[in-house]
Amino acid sequence: MNMSISPTNRTVVITGASAGIGRALALEYAARGCRLGLLGRRQSALESLRAEIVGMGAPSAEIAVLDVDDVDSVRPCLDRLFERIGAVDVFVANAGINGFTRVGAGDFAVDRRIIQTNVLGALACLDAAAAQFIARRAGHLVGISSLASMIAVPTQGAYCASKAALSAYLRTARIELARHGIRVSNVTPGFVLTEIMPDIGKYPFAIPAAQAAREIADALDAGQREVIVPGWPWKLFKPFFGFIPDSMWRRFG
Ligand SMILES: NC(=O)c1ccc[n+]([C@@H]2O[C@H](COP(=O)([O-])OP(=O)(O)OC[C@H]3O[C@@H](n4cnc5c(N)ncnc54)[C@H](OP(=O)(O)O)[C@@H]3O)[C@@H](O)[C@H]2O)c1
Repeated sequence: MNMSISPTNRTVVITGASAGIGRALALEYAARGCRLGLLGRRQSALESLRAEIVGMGAPSAEIAVLDVDDVDSVRPCLDRLFERIGAVDVFVANAGINGFTRVGAGDFAVDRRIIQTNVLGALACLDAAAAQFIARRAGHLVGISSLASMIAVPTQGAYCASKAALSAYLRTARIELARHGIRVSNVTPGFVLTEIMPDIGKYPFAIPAAQAAREIADALDAGQREVIVPGWPWKLFKPFFGFIPDSMWRRFG
């Protein structure tokens, strides 16, 4: 395992870096002196993020346009980016979407988009990054899942299912990749104030993206494999998730 990398001498690649948690994480790692690889569909948003990072005096930031829904393009795109920026230490599969869906209400097209991006897109990215890390026998593979992987939230059926699938994949990857010296972290944020949903602020204990990014980077730097943010109060509540009555969540649907 690559434990000798100093926090100021690493390269971190992030998908979905153009907005929200990914953007905040890029700024957090830039402030920690890391080199960055930034991926997303919106080139202009990535360019303005890079300008901000360069303005902070961070070492460097490379950008690449990638739509993770186009799964066949993921491996070539990531191979090119890894080749361009050299040894990558941390890869964060963060790109993801949400959407309101109700079971049996004709929302299957939205369900399919959520599964395409959050499951197939994320797995394509993690698989490609893992291949690079296996070749180097080092690396830290990170997936941004969600507390929704562990709970049932009305109007979020496909989203909860997508994150449960992602977390299961990450835990399996952790076991398989350990012998290659690769660390795997499953990050499960609670509610974070981003554009992912218009009314995200109505959910309990919502925090700003910058706070989420700081807590995620701290946990990853500490080598945590299962990361819950914000730690307070979700770490305290987690053992009781199985006992939350449906009526508690019903008022959010
Ligand atoms: N906000 C929350 O409460 C919360 C809680 C738990 C987990 N999460 C997870 O955190 C991650 C980031 O979410 P966020 O809240 O920061 O959302 P956001 O503000 O909407 O940002 C989503 C990011 O994903 C990128 N993206 C979306 N679809 C993509 C695609 N097909 N290909 C490539 N990039 C794509 C977007 O970039 P482009 O549009 O430029 O492609 C954007 O950078 C997601 O996986 C989400 O499920 C969020």
